[in-house]
Amino acid sequence: MERFLSRDAQNFRPSAIRAFAKLINDPTVISFAGGSPSPETFPTERIAEIAGRVIRERSSVALQYGPTRGLPRLCDFVAGVCRSRGIECSGADVLMTTGSQQALDLIAHTLLDPGDVVLVELPTYIGGTSSFYVRSAEMAGVAQDDDGIVPESLAEVAARTKPKLLYTIPNFQNPSGRLMTQPRRAEVLRIAAEHDFLVIEDDPYGELVYVAGADTLAMKSRDVDDRVIYLGSFSKVLAPGLRCGWIVAAPELMAKFEIAKQAADLCSGMLDQSIVDEFTNAGELPPQIEKVRAFYREKRATMLASLDEHFYARATWTPADGGLFTFVTLADDIDAGALVPRAVSNGVAYVPGAPFFVDGSGRNTMRLAFAKENDERIREGIERLAAVLWHVD
Ligand SMILES: Cc1ncc(COP(=O)(O)O)c(C=O)c1O
Repeated sequence: MERFLSRDAQNFRPSAIRAFAKLINDPTVISFAGGSPSPETFPTERIAEIAGRVIRERSSVALQYGPTRGLPRLCDFVAGVCRSRGIECSGADVLMTTGSQQALDLIAHTLLDPGDVVLVELPTYIGGTSSFYVRSAEMAGVAQDDDGIVPESLAEVAARTKPKLLYTIPNFQNPSGRLMTQPRRAEVLRIAAEHDFLVIEDDPYGELVYVAGADTLAMKSRDVDDRVIYLGSFSKVLAPGLRCGWIVAAPELMAKFEIAKQAADLCSGMLDQSIVDEFTNAGELPPQIEKVRAFYREKRATMLASLDEHFYARATWTPADGGLFTFVTLADDIDAGALVPRAVSNGVAYVPGAPFFVDGSGRNTMRLAFAKENDERIREGIERLAAVLWHVD
């Protein structure tokens, strides 16, 4: 069948993480591996009640095709969310997508030709790079430190590779958990203007904040020449099964994304959008966000305290001031990927960091998600992990 595949399909790469996640369904294994939100945060009964109601009372909308741009009242709500993040826009500037993952695919389809260069953070979200790889784009990695993208690295790689796009996750990045500082965001935009490339700002974690004073104001709030394509999502604050994300970008680009979306799925699921619309219109999103924050804040504190206890002076890790992950850097000679089988047989799982680095680095890193396990299992899991890494009890 190979001979029937398109050139792009010949470059398809299965996700290293998804393949790996399948291995860890054993309940005796404490898992820091999966990247999904906890189902305990879903307002399940409320969603069930709203779903029943919209199906019965608004079937001509909820069970019908809808506008490609999205349900108008939901687009207006989303525009309000964006304004609260510093982005000037109205409902007419929003395109609802089937999760922000679809936004990445539509952007890649619309902007990338084979061989075009996309700059990505080292490390970066694998779903982002998959969307670019399926269009046969080339990835070039840009260094990060604790403040986010390192401007000197960005300028150097941009000068060398002439990129079309930069893909960045400034708020509590997946997988590193880092928050990019505001001065760095300004620098990134300055360099983007100098080298004339577009910026995808992917922001699914901006509302998951656990500390006071974290400045999550969108990079797009500084976007004077409209080069930032801003992506948001309800997945991490409400429920990812509802597949509701969005794009806000320059009108000329939005018109093209809309055509790409017509070809992809005509419109995003109207039942999903109707449920999210009813929920948000009833004013329930802010208290839901507070609940979700409180839920993860505690788990994050437990994980950081356990790391302090068992990893101190042996590794470094990011503070996870928001989001779902902390990213651990071990001594140079430890290969986190090679240790996975031993960890799993000792009852603890994590995701090795290397697949998140497009340049083949990061062998001594790992991503730990604190969403899934309870406090007791988080403590136990970190202790087990220390035993595997350093042969200690
Ligand atoms: C950085 C990033 N972008 C996009 C997505 C996809 O989210 P959605 O459910 O909105 O498609 C994820 C999901 O984990 C993510 O971590």
